[in-house]
Amino acid sequence: MNSVVLETSLPGLKVRRGKVRDIYDLGDRLLLVISDRISAFDWVLPTGIPDKGRVLCGLSEFWFRTLGVPNHLITTDVDQMPLPAGVDRGPLRGRSMLVRKASVVPIECVVRGYLAGSGWKEYQKQGAVCGIKLPVGLNQADRLPEPIFTPATKAESGHDVNISFDEMIRRVGREPAEDLRRRSFQIYVGGAALAEKRGIIIADTKFEFGICNGETLLIDEVLTPDSSRFWPAESYRPGGSPPSFDKQFVRDWLETTAWDKNSPPPPLPDDVVRRTRAKYIEAYEALTGKVFPWK
Ligand SMILES: Nc1ncnc2c1ncn2[C@@H]1O[C@H](COP(=O)(O)OP(=O)(O)OP(=O)(O)O)[C@@H](O)[C@H]1O
Ligand SMILES: [Mg+2]
Repeated sequence: MNSVVLETSLPGLKVRRGKVRDIYDLGDRLLLVISDRISAFDWVLPTGIPDKGRVLCGLSEFWFRTLGVPNHLITTDVDQMPLPAGVDRGPLRGRSMLVRKASVVPIECVVRGYLAGSGWKEYQKQGAVCGIKLPVGLNQADRLPEPIFTPATKAESGHDVNISFDEMIRRVGREPAEDLRRRSFQIYVGGAALAEKRGIIIADTKFEFGICNGETLLIDEVLTPDSSRFWPAESYRPGGSPPSFDKQFVRDWLETTAWDKNSPPPPLPDDVVRRTRAKYIEAYEALTGKVFPWK
């Protein structure tokens, strides 16, 4: 098994660490190095999943190339990246993206095609999700008559807060809000249709957009198991909570421990790591139709 990459540091470059990505500023471009860190219940776990970053990088690259929408990706080829002399490119291979630096629109553009997670909770209480009225009598995990757009804001605490579309308009303006909603639907509908043919239901997902030289770009990651809820189409049954594709073993195992979710989480056992890694790779291979090159 390949070794796990939890953190990178590159000589001569300052790093900002997100939950999963290490971000290096190269002027008008960014180097995003996707680590093997995994988060659950809003915590980054002390144990990584070997090559998870490579799965996320490969999948996002696949979608950026397949979807044909304006996006931030320049290259994933580390030999093409303008890095300071002395940087060891080896550990960056397969997990790095050189991207155009954008001014990030501070809205998480969420599209839901199925009723799950916080959407299902809201529907049970209000018959609506983020102010969008839905038909009565829907069950958990039901496919919606048509996908809905349910934006959220990135809260300082790290926990996202759902907002109405009107609130999004107040924050970014009517035209940009409508434009991002249109783009989000287009990406979700195209991506979900392709994924379904390949055996994966994308129940919901989150996009981020940024503005670069006046152009709106799809940024960050796209249609990965980290930014989306993936269900295996094969075992899909409405009326319950389908197992998520990737983090199920991690969440299930954490639930069996005494961990209170309010203090640093415990390390994962090898078996949970191995099975989780296999699920990420399975998603990569199903969607791209290629053998994962880092097996
Ligand atoms: N092209 C881009 N230009 C500017 N920022 C970008 C671009 N692509 C991604 N980002 C930002 O880089 C970060 C990616 O890091 P990561 O996914 O690890 O963060 P996160 O935990 O999701 O969020 P946070 O940044 O709040 O920690 C996000 O903040 C994202 O908005
Ligand atoms: Mg992120």
